[in-house]
Amino acid sequence: MMFDMDQLDLGRSYKLLSSSIVPRPIAWVVSQDANGVANAAPYSLFNFFGGHPPVVCIGMGRPKGRDKDSLANIRATNEFVINMVTASLAQAMNTTAVPFPAGVDELEKAGVETVPCTRIAGRRIKQSPVALECRLMQIIDVQPSSAIVMASVLAMHIDDEHVKDAERCYIDGSRFDAIGRMESPGWYTKTGDRFVMPQLSVQEWEALDDKLQNVCITPR
Ligand SMILES: Cc1cc2nc3c(=O)[nH]c(=O)nc-3n(C[C@H](O)[C@H](O)[C@H](O)COP(=O)(O)O)c2cc1C
Repeated sequence: MMFDMDQLDLGRSYKLLSSSIVPRPIAWVVSQDANGVANAAPYSLFNFFGGHPPVVCIGMGRPKGRDKDSLANIRATNEFVINMVTASLAQAMNTTAVPFPAGVDELEKAGVETVPCTRIAGRRIKQSPVALECRLMQIIDVQPSSAIVMASVLAMHIDDEHVKDAERCYIDGSRFDAIGRMESPGWYTKTGDRFVMPQLSVQEWEALDDKLQNVCITPR
């Protein structure tokens, strides 16, 4: 079946895309307003787009043409933190997506602790094994319904237990237990079911006995 995206309204178009482009990592964004009041919310239209400089992008919806709090805060302060979400943090993350009225401390509602950031103002989530301190590079306003936030990563905090070799930046991601967002409403996946499949050179591919067999996939 072919869907002509030009013929679809926002709701339908979003449903097709968000159900098909899965799983998506979740950026648990902690930002603050100009008065230093903290805000937390999850965003799964997220990834990194370059290593040097380290660049991340997040797609933020603008319901009824208005910025969500995270986007308004990022416009105001140019800074924010991305905290990665593990299975044990899933419920807390979900709590911060509840549209509480302004002034409610979502981090307190979610029952998470925060610690001060290093390179930017504000705080990050202590229980998150990986946190990225970010500074805004550019906001691309995709009229009328969304904006793309592009930012550089100034500092990464990774729990010591996951750092295998700091000098070589070798991280053991197998125990992060990160979750990914699947189709709406409310589906997620865990990342425990992993396999390793190295990218091959032409010579390595030609040396394979059976090129159609997944000989280089090893369950872990
Ligand atoms: C797992 C998850 C992922 C989400 N991803 C996005 C997203 O990528 N973009 C977006 O605009 N909203 C996303 N949302 C909805 C926002 O989190 C929600 O609108 C939130 O209330 C925004 O909070 P804020 O106004 O404090 O920024 C997501 C919600 C959940 C639960």
